[in-house]
Amino acid sequence: MSATPAGPARITVLDFARMHADGERIAMLTAYDHPTAELLDEAGIPAILVGDSLGQVLLGYDTTVRVTMEEMLHHTKAVVRGTRRALVVGDMPFLSYATPEEALANAGRFLREAGAQAVKIEGGVRSARIIEALVKAGIPVMGHIGLTPQAINALGKVRVQGRSREEARALLHDALAVQEAGAFAVVLELVPAQLAAAITARLRIPTIGIGAGAGCSGQVQVVTDVLGLGSFVPRHARPYADLRGTILAAAQAYRADVEAGAFPGDAQATRMDDAILDEVLGRGAADRDAVTGAADVAGGIPLDRDL
Ligand code: KIV
Repeated sequence: MSATPAGPARITVLDFARMHADGERIAMLTAYDHPTAELLDEAGIPAILVGDSLGQVLLGYDTTVRVTMEEMLHHTKAVVRGTRRALVVGDMPFLSYATPEEALANAGRFLREAGAQAVKIEGGVRSARIIEALVKAGIPVMGHIGLTPQAINALGKVRVQGRSREEARALLHDALAVQEAGAFAVVLELVPAQLAAAITARLRIPTIGIGAGAGCSGQVQVVTDVLGLGSFVPRHARPYADLRGTILAAAQAYRADVEAGAFPGDAQATRMDDAILDEVLGRGAADRDAVTGAADVAGGIPLDRDL
């Protein structure tokens, strides 16, 4: 008998390559928690990124720079537990891959402790050596170039990358460096659509765009943007639901019902045998017959006023 439980097989980086070779566009989303991951998996999303956008989206930090390894691992574990089929990619947080040794130790934790199947690393040419070390160790890596939010303090602000001749050339070099280092895919964030399409055409590995136009091999979006849960919708996102409105209306309706005494109703309450309660409260038939006044307790059971 096999020790492996039956069930749908998890998508691997090899499936990712096959999907790309077959010309399938890859729909990727971020997730940070168990119930959302479960729904994305059920919806057939093939790859889930536990992005360090966690910091801003869920934890209320101002940038991703504040996110720690422990926070990333905690949320990656929840996402892995919520999925059976999706490829789960853990996002290596700021300074967790500054040297090959640190990168190996931390990426290893994503796979071994959290159960992710791959990691994502920001940076092109500057991160190639790290990507190579991880890939050599058997850790699949997704690259991330263009806008790299962990470098926000060096970049100054969130803006499209690659509009100028120099930036476009640098981005092309970055893409090739990530591919040659052995990454299985590369995220292109906030890159002009024509440049992203040109990079995609020159690479063997799939490009996953966010704010990089329709010419990429796939797309990734922050799940709260797609669900309409964030307080602000970036220009590159399209909300497919209005969870913010739905949650607000639900919370207001709940509050109104509680305040009006309309919740819980009979359907949300449980009942017991009244005779048992009467007995416990000293209001049963035996108690009514008992001589009262001499003692406050009938049959050893405390009366209403003693409870
Ligand atoms: O952290 C994240 O969500 C990301 C995506 C924007 C690609 O890196």
